[in-house]
Parts: sequence; structure tokens; C-alpha cells
Amino acid sequence: MTPLPSVRDLPVKGRRVFLRSDLNVPMKDGRVADDARILASLPTLRLLVERGASVVVASHLGRPRGQRDDRFSLAPVAERLAQLAQRPVEFVDDVAGEAAHQRAGALAPGEVLMLQNLRFEPGEERDDPDLARRLASLADVYVNDAFGAAHRAHASTHALARLLPHAAGLLLLEEVRVLTGLLENPQRPFVCILGGAKVSDKLPVLRSLLPRVDRLLLGGGMANTFFLARGLAMGQSLVEPPQVPEARALLEAYPGRVELPVDLVVAPSPEGPARTVAPDAVGEQDRALDVGGATVDAYARIIAGAGCVFWNGPVGMFEKPPFDQGTLGIARAVAEAPGFTVAGGGDSLAALDRAGVLHQIDHASTGGGASLELLEGRTLPGVAALTDDG
Ligand code: 3PG
Repeated sequence: MTPLPSVRDLPVKGRRVFLRSDLNVPMKDGRVADDARILASLPTLRLLVERGASVVVASHLGRPRGQRDDRFSLAPVAERLAQLAQRPVEFVDDVAGEAAHQRAGALAPGEVLMLQNLRFEPGEERDDPDLARRLASLADVYVNDAFGAAHRAHASTHALARLLPHAAGLLLLEEVRVLTGLLENPQRPFVCILGGAKVSDKLPVLRSLLPRVDRLLLGGGMANTFFLARGLAMGQSLVEPPQVPEARALLEAYPGRVELPVDLVVAPSPEGPARTVAPDAVGEQDRALDVGGATVDAYARIIAGAGCVFWNGPVGMFEKPPFDQGTLGIARAVAEAPGFTVAGGGDSLAALDRAGVLHQIDHASTGGGASLELLEGRTLPGVAALTDDG
């Protein structure tokens, strides 16, 4: 791929910059519940302001599906951005209409304006050229720093790049550098831990990672389908029988590379009562809801010996104690690993945070879906649009 143009090399003094960030943050009771993505967006914002640009910040929040929906207003995010950036951030309750136009046009160098949720516009998710033109008219140059949304070909991440001089922001550059490094030149042994509920969501990344990793540690609902492929009965657990042939084929194609849990925490329902059993002792009424302590220990030993580690996805029903213990154990093991550690996905980062070890991770990716698609070896539309060949 042609190298990405960097915001560091973009002349921005006295110019108005359209900065696409991914400020799609978890909200609770109308307030920002997790700052991580806002904090990660600050270096690019600061660089632009310090270099004398005025900045129009734009993001999506949630999935309002092309309609105005006040539950997804970015107003509280703009307020939090102002606090964290320690500078005024004006908020305009408009995306690309007259009000946005007027306020963007009135910005002085060093001033910051934040637009309303891009997904209130029906054209955003359709990559609509007309919306892209209206967004382009708000600024002189375009900087995309929204790594978390780079796997979406939307008007603000894709069509817009063709209409203005453009560059990648610092966060997007760093995410692409680190994740491409894992894909192309990982420190050995390369250990990957994949969890999550559904194996069908993870098959593309499994296919792409298996030839590259030294060990793949599986957990969560997706491991159940691999147990089925090994002929075990999984009771009432979440399984995907149509995926069994592919799971079996992967196990056979890479003998010794895939690790499955050695014990499971099962219960008739998430309300309990929970007990720990061997994978071949799951009862007819049981649901596997977490990995057990012996699995955490076994995985932790492998993780401790890794040259680099990539983790995505909880290994149990993390939102429902006591079925969070396996995921918290994996979080601690990844954080303590001496190798280079990368984690991605909202639940994995939340687990690291709850375990108090998020700061020990070498690279906490702000992109869940985007990091997986990059590791699948796919071209991310938001990244490709920034290169001449995109
Ligand atoms: C994310 O949170 O993964 C990104 O912001 C993309 O959001 P989306 O899955 O709603 O497109």
C-alpha cells in the first residue's frame, strides 16, 4: 500500500480542517461513560490547533439510522471533549446545513467547532456524494483520525477524502502501524486470544490469523462450536452447528495450534447456580458461560511466553458476575505478559480497565471491528481513501 499521508506534513496554518474522529463512546444516563476514545483523539486535535488551524470536529455516535434521535446527540461528548482538551469547543446542533455552515465559516484560527452526529444524516452510511460535498464545503482540508470507523465506507470516512486535500491523523497512523506490524512482522511466538459469542463473526479473522500465529487461544461462546467439532455435547450452550465443518477443518489444518478451554463454568441459566466442569462433562441442561480457573492458568502460561499477544473478545459472559472471572483473568495475564501486547474491542478494553491494568497494555486499539478487519488482511475503506490508489 502507498504510505499514508500524515497530518504532520499537511499545511494547516490559517486553514479550516474537517477532523473526522471516532467519538462513538459508551454513554450512561446522558453522560459519557468511558473517555478512552476522546482521550485518544486529543493529540491530533492539539497538533492542528497549535499549528494555527481552526477545526471542525465530526463523529458518529451509536446507530440512529439516518434520523435525528436526541438519545444520540453529541452535545455531551462535545462538553467532555472541551474539558479534556482544556479549551472551548463550540457545539452546533446541525451536521451539514446552514447553521453548521455559518458557525464553521466564523471560526478563527485555534477555535474548535463540533458538529452534531453524522449519522443523523441519511447520506452518511450510504457514502452519499452529495452529503460529502456539503461536508467538504465546511472546510479547506480533511484529516481522518477515526480508526474505529475506518472499516466503514461512509460519506465522512470515504467519499469526503476525494474532495479535499487530506491526511491521516496521529491516532489512525499509529493504529495502522501497530496492527500492520502484527500482521506482517510479529515478534515470535505470536499468541492470539479470541473470544466473543459467535464463531460466525470471527471465522474470517480465524482463517487469516491461523497461518500467521504460533498459538490461538479460544474462549467464549465461539469455543463451543469447536467443542462440537471435537464431538463433545454442549447441553444448552450457544452453538452454531452450520459452522462445525469449518471449525473441524481449521482444527485439522493446523494441528496443535488451536487451544480450547480445559474447564468451563456452567449453569442452567445466567442466574446460576454455577459450577466448574471438564468440557466433556457439560450436562444436558447446562450452558457454558465462562472458562474456568485451570483454563486461565494454562492460557496465562502460554501468554507469558509470547513475543507478542493480540487479544479480542471476552472469554465468558463478562457482563454477568460470576461469569466475568475468566475474562478478568485473561486481562491480567495479557497485562503482565513481558511481550508486546495489543488488545482491541470494547469488552476486552472494559475488562482491562476493570482489572485496573489497561495502562499496562502496549497498544489498546480504539477499533474493535476495524482492528479485526485489518488483521483479516482486508483493506479498510477509510484508510484506502487517504492514499492515491484508494
Ligand atoms: C465502533 O464502535 O466499532 C465504531 O465506532 C463503528 O461503529 P459501528 O459499528 O456502529 O459502525
